[in-house]
Amino acid sequence: MCGIICYVGQKDAKPILIEGLKRLEYRGYDSAGLAVQDGNEISCYRELGKIASLEGLVNGQPMEGTSGIAHTRWATHGEPSVQNAHPQRDQAENVFVIHNGIIENYHLLKKRLEKEGVAFQSETDTEVLAHLISSHFDGDLADAVRKTMGQVEGTFGLGVIHRHAPDQVVVARRGSPLIIGVSDDGHFVASDVSAMVRYTNKVVHLQENELATVTADDFFISTAQAQRIERSTETVEWSAEDVELNGFPHYMLKEIYEQPHTIKNALRGRLEPGEGVPKLGGIMPVWEDLKNCRHMVLVACGTSFYAASVAKYIFEKLTEIDTEVGLASEFRYRKLNFPPNTFMVAISQSGETADTLAAMKEAKRKGARLLGVVNVVGSSISRETDGGIYNHAGPEIGVASTKNFVSQLTTLTLLALLLGRHQNLSLTEGVRAIRALEALPEQVREVLGQASHIEAIAEKYYHCTNWLFLGRKYNYPIALEGALKLKEVSYIHAEGYAAGEMKHGPIALINPEMPTVAVIPKDEMHEKMLSNIHEIKSRKGPVIAIATQGDEKVRDLADDVIEIPHVLDFLTPMLAVIPCQLLAYYCAKFLERDIDKPRNLAKSVTVE
Ligand code: G6P
Repeated sequence: MCGIICYVGQKDAKPILIEGLKRLEYRGYDSAGLAVQDGNEISCYRELGKIASLEGLVNGQPMEGTSGIAHTRWATHGEPSVQNAHPQRDQAENVFVIHNGIIENYHLLKKRLEKEGVAFQSETDTEVLAHLISSHFDGDLADAVRKTMGQVEGTFGLGVIHRHAPDQVVVARRGSPLIIGVSDDGHFVASDVSAMVRYTNKVVHLQENELATVTADDFFISTAQAQRIERSTETVEWSAEDVELNGFPHYMLKEIYEQPHTIKNALRGRLEPGEGVPKLGGIMPVWEDLKNCRHMVLVACGTSFYAASVAKYIFEKLTEIDTEVGLASEFRYRKLNFPPNTFMVAISQSGETADTLAAMKEAKRKGARLLGVVNVVGSSISRETDGGIYNHAGPEIGVASTKNFVSQLTTLTLLALLLGRHQNLSLTEGVRAIRALEALPEQVREVLGQASHIEAIAEKYYHCTNWLFLGRKYNYPIALEGALKLKEVSYIHAEGYAAGEMKHGPIALINPEMPTVAVIPKDEMHEKMLSNIHEIKSRKGPVIAIATQGDEKVRDLADDVIEIPHVLDFLTPMLAVIPCQLLAYYCAKFLERDIDKPRNLAKSVTVE
């Protein structure tokens, strides 16, 4: 969703801000803008559509200055338009504001300001901020922003400049992340590390209700009560290379190919093969309670929810814990009644998904302890938890999540294994699971070796407008994830179903124009899945099977087969998901879709 990048330093701000905006494109946006300050002069440009158009617009313009603010907007209040794009400004054009989040009481504030004679130029909630900051300004910009923070309800990550407060950017946060980047050439502020990782990996996380005055040489963090805060820098493990395409045509394909590495990174330093017990330092603060936990709730959204759904089966297999899984957006509306010592595990790539955060807060209120399985270090979700596991998957730029899914499955399997080994799981089973996890990166590589075969299958079927994905048990969520991936990037309508439900509806749809992707590894569900494939074939539906290597029965029956290596039942999802990702990718490629930035979607969904 919306993205923020600000710079104050020794260098020309314009190219740095444009580069930062390009790095934020993946989050999803519909318009963008920037304002650069040179002494008491501020030049501001905004454009609808792609950053390339904004770049074209500003390239011919003189935009001197070594400080500025820039924004990608994903419309919430008011249609996507130049007037509604950020920066928003006050009437005198002294204050320029960029804003992530939603000002909930903007209606009231707007009415009051209009009564006072303010003429609004946009339909945005953000514009009230510009007018309020302007009215409070008496030479101290941080103070004006602080006073405005006291008047507004809702969420914000803000970047503000003022014509009469040169060489500084004031930023503030409530519910929307902001990170200060420290480099030899000046300071950055971004909503997301990838916007500045090219320039620095030294960062400081702004926390709730804090603001900061950022200059070329320093930054001063303070609370809403004007108390000074000292905070030292952290080093992020992401590098500039992580956010480059490195020869791949799309980030989605690059990230699919990174998966052997992603699994290795999630396992690194965490395996004790001899004992059959993983080591997870991040959960040690709650270990005494966690090891006796008998009730666990996994919550997430989107692809992370499907990882949680697979994990539920894995927890049932490896532990004695009664495990429930919930969509974060629904969970908080339920009447929650947690047994004592319940743990909620929030699973999130970005660590910023608003619904997941809201579900966590509700669970905490009701007495649950909170754990996180998160990729972005220092993100809001990770800060809300009592302990957790980082994925170490590196930045995921493609909007449709791929490598994070396998990373989440890996870390959740480690958690289940650790808990299981402190319950009833035997040493032999523990050791077997660890050996199988260690073998996974190579097995994923084998599946990736079939990419051209999968591409040919996609070429055969991409014209079909409806697809069905079927699976059972561990691979039921893979059917859901396969259908989601296809929808997200190719815009083909697809449904994921538990294969046992076929007869209760979807079978009515089967015809020669509707391919079914059947996830049928050689596991305890194999025979039942075979029957489903028979039923589809007798109705002349084409079947693409994802099956275990050497499965003759499936080869005889299915129209196309993608083989995965033999692996323990509960690890099959990690291999079976790869062909689903590649099928979605290649269909989208044949349909010439905007693969990394599908229409209407956002990478990080920070509004409920
Ligand atoms: C968005 C993204 C998905 C992601 C979901 C949950 O919808 O487009 O790829 O799975 O949010 O995000 P999270 O960051 O919480 O995993």
